[in-house]
Amino acid sequence: MTLYTSRQIGLNGRHGGMIAPVIAVGGCDLHGPQSALSPAGVGAEQISSLFWWMAGGAVLIWAVVIGIALYATLARPRKKHDVQGARWLIIGGGIVFPTVVLTILLSYGLMLIPKLRSTGNVDLHVAVSGEMWWWRVRYTSPAGEPVELANEIRLPVGKRVSLSLTSPDVIHSFWVPSLSGKVDMIPGRENTLILEPTKPGTYRGVCAEYCGASHAFMAFRVVVMEPQDFEAWLTHQAQPAVSSGSPSARQGEQAFLVNGCGACHTIRGTAADGRVGPDLTHVGSRLSLGAGMLPNDAQTFARWIGHTQQIKPEVRMPSFGMLPEEQLTALATYLSGLK
Ligand code: CUA
Repeated sequence: MTLYTSRQIGLNGRHGGMIAPVIAVGGCDLHGPQSALSPAGVGAEQISSLFWWMAGGAVLIWAVVIGIALYATLARPRKKHDVQGARWLIIGGGIVFPTVVLTILLSYGLMLIPKLRSTGNVDLHVAVSGEMWWWRVRYTSPAGEPVELANEIRLPVGKRVSLSLTSPDVIHSFWVPSLSGKVDMIPGRENTLILEPTKPGTYRGVCAEYCGASHAFMAFRVVVMEPQDFEAWLTHQAQPAVSSGSPSARQGEQAFLVNGCGACHTIRGTAADGRVGPDLTHVGSRLSLGAGMLPNDAQTFARWIGHTQQIKPEVRMPSFGMLPEEQLTALATYLSGLK
């Protein structure tokens, strides 16, 4: 919220010297990539229209009740103000009117539930698991092979996508405000959320349930693409890793295998087949590092590997700051080259 004086917004003349506070909503970005009020999916559209109807109902009730209160306080006593009339004003404006408005809003909200919860007619299935503190994402390739990725979900525009949501240890909550409502990820359970994106673009998702030290550091991106671009992307992601083969990248690949990184990470096409941490087969092609925390370039990659625990407290991966600078650089060159 921002307070402006009349001068700041250019109101001069008769009102020039008067401070006319104008309240403008300046602090919240209604059209950002993480806004429930700028919907880009069917679920978010319904939730946003519910929000505006409820806001309208609240303003209406407020205006009527305050109007009656002002009338009651300011009106001069006159003969025709009888007890009967006052009673009807209180019952009508204070009880009947709010009850009718709230009942209409409740019915409208309840009517949206069956459509929001329906899980039929699905074009694509994606499995997402909330980890400490990142997102494991699993697709099935066009050839029927499982393809695992991390911290990035790509979706074809106009299709109905079923996400099966779970977690191996603690409760997280999956939320992409621009596309839909939030759903908890509960260990031992599989919850379903339908996403039906309507506008291509890149949206931001977050964990909406406190889940430990780095709860605030597990963001992700959802990229909504044209269906043919999505197919091409998924086909590429299903391929094994291709290293640039430069001397530094070769040294990095050696360092990756020698230092035991493959015990936790998979790089398809190499001996690394760990399952604890994110799959790194195409890590260089991702939009961010460390689950939405850092830009994805070689320099940042080296910093991430050397200072993992400082950047993301209590994450399962230890910091590898004990490695010589040259090895860190080679590792970063190798990994950021896996496009
Ligand atoms: Cu995961 Cu909060």
